[in-house]
Amino acid sequence: MSFTLVALDHTPFIHRCIALAEYGCGHTGINPMVGAVLVRDEKIIIEAFHEEFGSLHAEALLIKKCVQKIQQEDRLYINLEPCCYTEKKTPPCTDAIIKSGIKHVIVGMLDPNPQVSGKGIEQLRKNGIEVIFPIERARCVWFNRGFVSLMVKSRPWITMKKAQTWSGAIAGEDGSKMKITNTEQDAWSHQYLRSKHDAILVGVETVVTDDPLLTFRMKNEELPAGRSIGEGWRMKNEQPLRIVLDPQLRIPLTAKVVSGEMAKGTMVVTKQAEDTEVTEEAKEQMEKLRERGVRVVSIPLNDAGVFAMQELFHVLTTPTKDFHGLTSILVEGGRKTWEAFRKANAVDCEVMLIGKKQSHIA
Ligand SMILES: NC(=O)c1ccc[n+]([C@@H]2O[C@H](COP(=O)([O-])OP(=O)(O)OC[C@H]3O[C@@H](n4cnc5c(N)ncnc54)[C@H](OP(=O)(O)O)[C@@H]3O)[C@@H](O)[C@H]2O)c1
Repeated sequence: MSFTLVALDHTPFIHRCIALAEYGCGHTGINPMVGAVLVRDEKIIIEAFHEEFGSLHAEALLIKKCVQKIQQEDRLYINLEPCCYTEKKTPPCTDAIIKSGIKHVIVGMLDPNPQVSGKGIEQLRKNGIEVIFPIERARCVWFNRGFVSLMVKSRPWITMKKAQTWSGAIAGEDGSKMKITNTEQDAWSHQYLRSKHDAILVGVETVVTDDPLLTFRMKNEELPAGRSIGEGWRMKNEQPLRIVLDPQLRIPLTAKVVSGEMAKGTMVVTKQAEDTEVTEEAKEQMEKLRERGVRVVSIPLNDAGVFAMQELFHVLTTPTKDFHGLTSILVEGGRKTWEAFRKANAVDCEVMLIGKKQSHIA
C-alpha cells in the first residue's frame, strides 16, 4: 500500500509537541525541551515529553508508554530530531523508534548538536522509516533557543530586560528603587520573561538598593482579561535560579534572595581567591551564605576587573552532581550588569518596558 504524508497537515501535531515539551521548562538542564505524540486516524493516542535532565527522552518515553501494537499508518511527531548516539547510559532514541515498528516520523527541526544533526534522520531512513522535516522549523528553533544557543555559541540564550521611564530614568535620581512599570507590564514580564528563562540574573547593587525577590509570581486571576497561564506553565511551578554577580561578596545577609527558603535557589558569583586578596570578612560571608544553602561559585576576573564571561557560561552550562546546568538567562540589571553583557557581545534579545508615570517607592 502506498502511503504519503505530504498532503497531511502536520502543524497542529508539532504545536502539541511544543506545548508538551514546555512542561519541562526549568527542569531539563542543558538538554532541549522535547515533546512527542503518536497519531492514529488523525487522533493523538499517546503523548510524552522530556520531563527532566537525566530522564528518558520524549520519544523513548512515548514508546515505553505505548501498550498498543504499532500499526503501519501510525505517525510519530517530535519537535526535535531524535538522537542517534549513546549518551552516558541512555541508548539512542533512533534505536527505540526502529525497534518499535513505527514507520512514519515527522520532525520539527534538525538537532543542532553536531553529534546528531541529520544523522538521526539518516538512520531512520536507512531502516525504511519515512521521515518528513522540517515542520514549523522557525517556531521549533525559537522554542528551543536556549539549547540552540548552547550548541551554536557555547553559551546560554540571553535576554536583557530593562524598565525605564519616558525620560529614560531606570531608578530615582539618588539610585533609589522606583516603580516604573504598570500591572499589565509586570504581568507580561512575569509570564513571558521570568517564567520562560532558566535563571534571572542581577548585579549586586540591584540587590543592595532594590532587594528584589527575583521570582515569577502570577496567578490566572491576576492576569489581564482574556489571558491565562494555560499550557506551558512550568510543570512543578519551580522558580528560575536566581544569580547575583557579586565579586566582593557584599550582598547583605538580610537580602530576600539569600533569606529563608529562597537561599537554596540562589547562586552568588564571586571572584576567585587568587584574583586579589580575599578579606576575612568576605570569607566569613561566603561561609554564612553556604550554610544557608546559597550556591557560591568563584569565577576569575578579566583584565578589566569584571568576570570572564566565557568562564561564567562554562560554569552555568556544566552539569554537576546537584546542578543540571541551564540554557537561558534573563538579565534584569542594573546598568553596570547590562553593560558587562553588551561588552561581551552576549545579548540575544533586548526587552525595554517603558513606564508612563514615575513614582518613587518610600
Ligand atoms: N529599571 C530597571 O530595569 C532596573 C533593573 C535593575 C536595577 N535597576 C536599578 O539599577 C541600579 C543598580 O545598577 P548599577 O549599575 O549601579 O548596579 P548593578 O548592575 O545592579 O550591579 C553592579 C555591580 O555588580 C557587580 N557586577 C555586575 N556585573 C559584573 C560583572 N560582569 N563582573 C563583575 N562584577 C559585576 C559589580 O559589583 P562590585 O561593585 O562589588 O564590583 C558591579 O559594581 C539601582 O538603582 C536599581 O534600582 C533598574
